Amino acid sequence: MSKITIPDILKRKTEGKKITMLTAYDHLFARIVDEAGIDIVLVGDSLGTVIQGYATTIPVTMDEMIYHTRMVSRGVKNALVVGDMPFLSYQASVEEGVRNAGRFLKEGGAAAVKVEGGANVIDKVRAMISSGIPVMGHAGLLPQTIHQMGGYKVQGKDEVSAERIFNDALMLEDAGVFALVMEGIPEGLAKKITGTIAIPTIGIGAGSHCDGQVMVLYDLLGLLPQPMPKFVRQYASLREPCIEAIRKFREDVEGGRFPGSDETYHS
Ligand code: KIV
Repeated sequence: MSKITIPDILKRKTEGKKITMLTAYDHLFARIVDEAGIDIVLVGDSLGTVIQGYATTIPVTMDEMIYHTRMVSRGVKNALVVGDMPFLSYQASVEEGVRNAGRFLKEGGAAAVKVEGGANVIDKVRAMISSGIPVMGHAGLLPQTIHQMGGYKVQGKDEVSAERIFNDALMLEDAGVFALVMEGIPEGLAKKITGTIAIPTIGIGAGSHCDGQVMVLYDLLGLLPQPMPKFVRQYASLREPCIEAIRKFREDVEGGRFPGSDETYHS
């Protein structure tokens, strides 16, 4: 398998071959995801909740994102690595947005960045692209605006917000994004956008008509304790086996059964 490029991702839409994208936040899981043949590894700012234990993605900083993106880039041979721009790394000004986006490529080793928003960030997206930085859009439910949305709620259910999301998608395509993540929107709207724009759409909680699907890796693996949203399919339940293995280690040490003779260096 050879290195996946942005033209490869664009071609998938015309070929009708679905795109797969998963998050990874460190070298070990990046290698595993890459070895499984996933097309795009997203260093998502979801690391704020999944790795750092915050309630939202808002506190995540640029330096933290670069740190994780470096680890992921070192683990990936074939997939396209995309770095997620954290809250307030691009909203304040075009210059700040371009400089921070550039850090993902220069320091993080990513091939592209992902930006949440549409009309509100379009000047920043255009400037990044014209500086040579490939951008993935993100429309619909935007976790960085959780306080404006009043929680992680499905977006685009009424006519006005559906039209806003549709127009954001058109605007992002026009600005030159190479793919569009659509999060938490009704499948009808996702189908309409996917059928209208020429760039691939990648859904999460957006139904089956998107050109690809993305999931948070730890959701898919069943590593997280909390109840999962409706759109998550758990392909494994690794949390319990992990706890059980660690419990057994503790019991063996406490009971004097570890290390055994075979696990000991004898002179
Ligand atoms: O941060 C993230 O993991 C994401 C995906 C859920 C698309 O933005």
